[in-house]
Amino acid sequence: MKKIYLGSDHGGFELKQKVKKYLAENFAGFSVEDLGCDSAESIDYPQFGRAVGEAVLADKGSLGIVMCGSGVGIGIAANKVRGIRCVLANTTELARLGRQHNGAQVLSMGGRTQFFDPWEEIVKTFLTTEVDQAERHERRRCQLG
Ligand code: RB5
Repeated sequence: MKKIYLGSDHGGFELKQKVKKYLAENFAGFSVEDLGCDSAESIDYPQFGRAVGEAVLADKGSLGIVMCGSGVGIGIAANKVRGIRCVLANTTELARLGRQHNGAQVLSMGGRTQFFDPWEEIVKTFLTTEVDQAERHERRRCQLG
């Protein structure tokens, strides 16, 4: 069963709760693991971005979704895990291109920011878009290290 790891700080906590419910109701074929945080109490985001990045890297074929207030900090933390490609998306287009071209294994979203498409659609697009295996994209992904 394909696994999805979730992580957030307090700024993304509420959105993470909604994402978890959405996944349970719409993606029964996926097993979801929430790596924290566990409340809306203020807490530093780097540990959660790192935890999701490391879990995804260790579990081949799995994906991750990270959330903080802006989606920026926790996305940077996930991207610091070597081999992880995390895309910050507030549109389905960015989620799709992040998967297709960049082979992103982790999606980042900002719980306190504006979405230009419904977050449900962004999540769905990220989870259902395959990585484009064209040589030019694979070559560029390899150059990311
Ligand atoms: C927390 O206040 C906020 O800085 C954090 O959630 C995130 O937006 C950082 O990038």
